[in-house]
Amino acid sequence: MKRMLSGIKPTGQLTLGNYIGALRNFVKYQDEYEMYVFIANLHCITEYQEPLQLSKNLTDAIALYLACGLDPKKSTIFLQTDVKAHAELGYIMACNTYLGELNRMTQFKDKTAKNEKNLTAGLYTYPCLMAADILLYNADYVPVGDDQKQHVELTRDIAQRFNNKYGKTFKVPEPLIAKVGARIMSLSDPSKKMSKSDETNKGCIYLLDDLKVARKKIMSAVTDSVGIIQLDKENQPGLYNLIEIASSLTDRSMNDIVDEFAGQGYGKLKTYVADVVCAELEKIQNKYHDIINTHLLDEIMSEGAKKANLIAEQTLKNVENKIGLKIKY
Ligand code: TYM
Repeated sequence: MKRMLSGIKPTGQLTLGNYIGALRNFVKYQDEYEMYVFIANLHCITEYQEPLQLSKNLTDAIALYLACGLDPKKSTIFLQTDVKAHAELGYIMACNTYLGELNRMTQFKDKTAKNEKNLTAGLYTYPCLMAADILLYNADYVPVGDDQKQHVELTRDIAQRFNNKYGKTFKVPEPLIAKVGARIMSLSDPSKKMSKSDETNKGCIYLLDDLKVARKKIMSAVTDSVGIIQLDKENQPGLYNLIEIASSLTDRSMNDIVDEFAGQGYGKLKTYVADVVCAELEKIQNKYHDIINTHLLDEIMSEGAKKANLIAEQTLKNVENKIGLKIKY
């Protein structure tokens, strides 16, 4: 069975973008693949997080993994810091990554271009830790949204370079990016990605949003003045995004949705998209409330950590031997 690994960094509440671009696919894949899904808590602290809020976000994210359908019988679910090998291999990966490669990472470039203050060294070397996350488990595939593709490609480069230098050590993983839903855009500015750190809070739907609030965000989504329901991503990006959201959640093709609403106003289409999104959120939220205050989370996470550690420690030991860090005594 081929192995998959992926993770989410809960720097805020999980979003509809995380669900459509990543989480929902993990749930689909867990039947066919050996699935490892983790909570990337070390990645969260590349930027300051209020500690109490961070730990609440982490707990919510685990509960949401389960509420969205990840099944601990099929998938290994764990917290990054429960597997200490991530940090050590992350450092080793940083020693095998060139500054030029990190300088080319668009996420980092975007932040520096915005002149954001207090950028940390952790943020800069983040792709090295992400490479370690993946390579520790010898994953064949890494299911991610479009924005993480560059990081997985860097992981491949690092793995190949390491293998050439020290002999075959890592499996070279492939990113797996869905054709529809890999980049869900902000509802208030469809030129930007829907993101946890949405400043206005209008463009992003959170999985735990009140249903009325979520509906309102969709009904007030920015569209265009063309007034025709069709697929024109360039000139009608907001409309395209709404249709893409509905298509991802219903598994209907985008063309099928366009055919149904062709010739009607945007309001009707928005109502349909809101119905689809709210039905999905309601299902997830009901399960989340059943799970959040139980001991289930502790049991699942400690079981997951045990399984993940078995593989990760073996890989790390192999790497330490290969590069000459180990001595006999
Ligand atoms: P993060 O937490 O930003 O996002 C988690 C996953 O959600 C996807 N995603 C989206 N997909 C579609 N539309 C959007 N608007 C959208 N926003 C987010 C992301 O592409 C991602 O798949 N670096 C990673 C976390 C990570 C990781 C890893 C992932 C750490 N180590 C190892 C895979 C393997 C991140 O910040 O994702």
